[in-house]
Amino acid sequence: MIPRQVIDEILARTDIGQLISKYVTLQRAGSNMKGLCPFHSEKTPSFTVFPSENSFYCFGCGVGGDAITFIRRAENLDYVDAVEYLAKSAGITIPEQPDRDGLLPKYDRKRLFEMNRTAAKYFHKCLYADNQYAKVAYEYLHIKRGLTDATIKHFGLGFAPNGYGEFIQYMTGAGYTLDELVIGNLCGRDQKTGRVFTSFYNRVMFPIIDVSGNVIAFGGRVMDNSTPKYKNSSDTPIYNKRRNIYALNFAKDACAEEMILCEGYMDVIAVHAAGFTNAVATLGTAITPEHARLMKRYTKCVVISYDMDEAGRNAADKAMKMLEEVGLEVRLIKMEGAKDPDEFIRKFGADRFKAILSGSSTKFDYNMERVLSKYSLSVPQDKINAANELCKLISEVYSAAERDVYIHAAAKKLDMAPSVLRQDVERMTYRKQKDEKKKDVQTVRQSSLGFTDKVNPDYVRMPAVARCEEAVLGLLMLYPQYVELVRDGKVDLTQNDFMTAFNARVFASVLEANGDPIDQENFTTDEIGRMTKMKIGRMELADNSERVFRDCVDNLKEAAAKKRQEAAPLTPQDLLSLIDAKRQEQGQEE
Ligand code: UTP
Ligand code: MN
Repeated sequence: MIPRQVIDEILARTDIGQLISKYVTLQRAGSNMKGLCPFHSEKTPSFTVFPSENSFYCFGCGVGGDAITFIRRAENLDYVDAVEYLAKSAGITIPEQPDRDGLLPKYDRKRLFEMNRTAAKYFHKCLYADNQYAKVAYEYLHIKRGLTDATIKHFGLGFAPNGYGEFIQYMTGAGYTLDELVIGNLCGRDQKTGRVFTSFYNRVMFPIIDVSGNVIAFGGRVMDNSTPKYKNSSDTPIYNKRRNIYALNFAKDACAEEMILCEGYMDVIAVHAAGFTNAVATLGTAITPEHARLMKRYTKCVVISYDMDEAGRNAADKAMKMLEEVGLEVRLIKMEGAKDPDEFIRKFGADRFKAILSGSSTKFDYNMERVLSKYSLSVPQDKINAANELCKLISEVYSAAERDVYIHAAAKKLDMAPSVLRQDVERMTYRKQKDEKKKDVQTVRQSSLGFTDKVNPDYVRMPAVARCEEAVLGLLMLYPQYVELVRDGKVDLTQNDFMTAFNARVFASVLEANGDPIDQENFTTDEIGRMTKMKIGRMELADNSERVFRDCVDNLKEAAAKKRQEAAPLTPQDLLSLIDAKRQEQGQEE
């Protein structure tokens, strides 16, 4: 077995779009990519790559999965060979596995947590050491960035000294081995010489703390303009940057209504110091679906407070989409006269920040402004273009009441009659709904092809049950928090509730993975394709809230109970009453 950690690393370093582009000509389609399926013959593309989910799926033939599954199919390899194939192109060596007779595991999570805490304390102490380097670091944080001692302490900030041996000496002195330091990414090891060196030196240090209070990783910033500005721990057995959020440990109790999402460490710290303790940031990576789902567990609404430059706006667009996909309300902050929240607060103070926070705009206002800023409304053609774009934006809103509100807002900005815009919007909405209906029919037709279902042979006998099962499994695979609900018994669901053997097996694997991606080694690529379909099917629906999950579980139980009754052999009692009924019927006829 290849450790999950290594597989995660391989998948993280493999750009699935790039990989598949070597086999298929892909075209952008929104945030996804489409092309002609390499696994069945088709004339219109139904083969889709979902970069945000790191997966692909063909709506025509049902083949799908992640990069490993793709290579298994495309190169005709088995699971382990496919993993090795990808590892090689990603430049990763798969560590030799301890043999069956059981060497001790190479690391112990608890020890890695302790090791990081020890390191954090050491860095903090170094910030206050009595030497010129420490002074420079302290002045950087205290004077240049305006952080008080209380804030420095609260966030556990520190300084990694620039001596080469000091940190390693201290840590080995505290009982940690060089191997452990390398596994935890506090140190690196030179591939050629085998020499171990510290990952962070001459940087101010930001410990990253998980919601349980464990120190899981670090970020370090230079104190001048050299690059890279920030260096972050890469993923380790206890840290995955796609899944962890900076300062969530502090924000988690203050963000039930609203969470402020910033771009970086310093923004979060400045916003907290200004009194808004509900601020967080993703670190060293753009926001991922995992981040979005994690936020959903703690809050209803995310206020995006990214940098005001082009990169920040693009990042905000992506974040907005991802957050909405998990059902979060999204608002956006507009800062004038400063590039990021840190600078804004330093320049204008906490009260002004509070004001822009409560004046944050909805997604629609934000998009409307972006459209309007492109055009000069006194030019007729510009005005027409702007109206068209705004109508299109509005037509994508699901609720008719909301559409009405936006139509009026847009009409006012454009100085046009609302009724004119309404006509255009309704026409676009109608066309969109028709397209969607057509797609639904296609999906149903496809799933009815299940009559020769090799993956789940039970499907044919009980399609209603199997469909309910797939809805539940799709949600479980997408949302680790629902797995938690099941595991903790907050939602009553066991393997026995699944009547089709294949889905029961998938359920067992999902539970076993406990929120991580399931172990694919025991599944064929056809089976993985089916699981991908369950996920994609749910991903495309608007509401995947906990209430929906609970409904799906109820539906599953109801369908299963109905089917069981149907399938149950008659009891002698049933038989007697049936005969009775028959007799009476005959009696009446005579
Ligand atoms: P920014 O470059 O916007 O920096 O990066 P900032 O937050 O304003 O930082 P200061 O104010 O100059 O200190 C935003 C975030 O992107 C990540 C970090 O998480 C940073 O906080 N980043 C940036 C890196 O990981 N590496 C880099 O080299 C730069
Ligand atoms: Mn900044």
